[in-house]
Amino acid sequence: MPDFPAFAFDTVAHIVAEPGAAGRLGEHIALRFPDARRALLVTDPGFLKTGLVDAPVASLRAAGLTVALYSHVMADPPEAVVLEAVDTARAFGPDIVIGLGGGSSMDVAKLIAVLAGGGQAISAIYGIGNVKGTRLPLVQIPTTAGTGSEVTNIAIVTTGATTKMGVVAPQLYADLALLDAELTLGLPSQVSAVTGIDAMVHAIEAYTSKHKKNPLSDILAREALRLLSANLITVCENGRNLAARQAMLLGAMLAGQAFANAPVAAVHALAYPIGGMFHVPHGLSNSLVLPHVLRFNAVEAAGLYAELAEIVVPAASGSVEARAEALAVAMQQIATVTGIERTLRQIGIHESDLDQLADDAMLQTRLLGNNPRTVTRDDARAIYAAAL
Ligand SMILES: NC(=O)c1ccc[n+]([C@@H]2O[C@H](COP(=O)([O-])OP(=O)(O)OC[C@H]3O[C@@H](n4cnc5c(N)ncnc54)[C@H](O)[C@@H]3O)[C@@H](O)[C@H]2O)c1
Ligand SMILES: [Fe+2]
Repeated sequence: MPDFPAFAFDTVAHIVAEPGAAGRLGEHIALRFPDARRALLVTDPGFLKTGLVDAPVASLRAAGLTVALYSHVMADPPEAVVLEAVDTARAFGPDIVIGLGGGSSMDVAKLIAVLAGGGQAISAIYGIGNVKGTRLPLVQIPTTAGTGSEVTNIAIVTTGATTKMGVVAPQLYADLALLDAELTLGLPSQVSAVTGIDAMVHAIEAYTSKHKKNPLSDILAREALRLLSANLITVCENGRNLAARQAMLLGAMLAGQAFANAPVAAVHALAYPIGGMFHVPHGLSNSLVLPHVLRFNAVEAAGLYAELAEIVVPAASGSVEARAEALAVAMQQIATVTGIERTLRQIGIHESDLDQLADDAMLQTRLLGNNPRTVTRDDARAIYAAAL
């Protein structure tokens, strides 16, 4: 008999995965939220420019809803942007909030849904379980296959110049997630690569999460890695492959479900200071430290990494340690093949920056506590040095 731990598992109640679903957003909302009259759609200027916002907005109007657009979301949303978005929402008075974009837009949508109708200040909700009361109805439509934010209970905010803080609360699970790969067909190759790697990291870190690893997250993480590793290069080489794009969205969502319940760890903890200080995309900062954290963790987690290597690199053979190393190499190869940066130096980081990065990484205690191996400040610095 396998020795399963006791565990709890939460996710979004309604998920629709169907190319073209965003063009029928109005129908989906009329079906699930028949009382909704005023919809606030949250997106960023880059996605707005694609024109792909038009069909969902038209379908909302056709369904009789009044629509307002907040389209000033910035990548790695600064707190000031979140507050401006909440003010816009209060002035409009939505009875439903729709996030349409990457993790940045979906995270802002979550925070609007929580803060616009309630009396809490944003500073009061950082951390775990600090959101009080209910929120506005919330629909999430990802346009990157990356963060899985459409099914997570997390929103990440850039506070101050370089630091990131998380809001983690059950109210952040959306009511409905729509996965429509037609929205991702034009996603540039480099964005496809780094967001896809972010999703793979979510699966890998969920599978080795120290305290909340559970059988359901494990199944989701494994299937996520299967879908993501089989389709990531394909979508980078041929962005308009709809089947591969839909598979990526599904994989990113499954990884999101996995890590919402078995949280991520040192890869993300070491990635956040890089993103904060050097303003590179979230997925790229993960990718830069990933192989080095995997090698550091292998002392404790080689067995689990070897299990994942069977999915990502089925040809890997040899000892548990050799297969764990094959996983690290395979992830480095994805970075090589997709042409994204592979060293910290390539994004302008110098030896003299490593102390600051290590100091900042140690502040990510929420994440480091999930890591399979304890990370000291010296360890963090050594991992950055290996990634240089
Ligand atoms: N809530 C969570 O569970 C969670 C998990 C991981 C990361 N995050 C956060 O999510 C954010 C990163 O999200 P992301 O990686 O999805 O990127 P993003 O939302 O910041 O978007 C990145 C860029 O891609 C563009 N873009 C998005 N979709 C596009 C499309 N279909 N076609 C063309 N361009 C498109 C955007 O305009 C933007 O310029 C970070 O703030 C990160 O901290 C949240
Ligand atoms: Fe991530």
